[in-house]
Amino acid sequence: MATKFLLSFLLISCYVLSISGEKETGFVGSVDPKSLSYKKKHTLSHFRFYWHEIFSGSNPSSVRIIPPQPKYSTTTTFGSVGVFDNVLTLGPELYSKVVGSAEGLYSSTSQKEFALLVITNFVLTEGKYNGSTITFVGRSPIAQKVREMPVVGGSGVFRFARGFVESRTLSFDPQTRNNTIEYNVYVYH
Ligand SMILES: *[C@@H]1O[C@H](CO)[C@@H](O)[C@H](O)[C@H]1NC(C)=O
Ligand SMILES: *[C@@H]1O[C@H](CO)[C@@H](O)[C@H](O)[C@H]1NC(C)=O
Repeated sequence: MATKFLLSFLLISCYVLSISGEKETGFVGSVDPKSLSYKKKHTLSHFRFYWHEIFSGSNPSSVRIIPPQPKYSTTTTFGSVGVFDNVLTLGPELYSKVVGSAEGLYSSTSQKEFALLVITNFVLTEGKYNGSTITFVGRSPIAQKVREMPVVGGSGVFRFARGFVESRTLSFDPQTRNNTIEYNVYVYH
């Protein structure tokens, strides 16, 4: 029964596509946006939280998995790759309330300066955002005071999301490379 219904739905979708002048492909149809909880009216939200990246100690939250390539300048760390699962807190202190985590990868991808390609999922754990994720991918030239990177999407509450993040380093320990970064996330969802 369900398959029959689905089949006629698909046929109708294809028909709609063909009468609207689209090339009929057989594998694409239109969907009611509401059925995927797509709202016409979007909310622009601003989140602010703090990430804590710990390279030192017995339980680092960030590890370099590929070292810099020696034949390039040592200041750019070109070619290095790392993976992290850093805690996100409400306030700048490590003991502040945890609101989620930042899971992702970074790689030094510039030969001219210390700049990272950063791929991150913010996994939120607070209230109605619990279990929803915001994904950003971008370039982070670490020496700059503010780095802007685009939000490319999200899941759960953040389905169809777009926007950008701003990251600012609040503290950096050159010995351990531990750092605290303030993230301001502006996201349409
Ligand atoms: C770096 O992380 C280690 C391990 O958690 C911690 O003991 C140390 O205090 C941190 N250093 C800084 C400067 O935050
Ligand atoms: C978030 O959801 C998980 C899984 O459903 C649950 O175990 C956890 O207690 C929730 N956290 C908060 C802060 O609501």
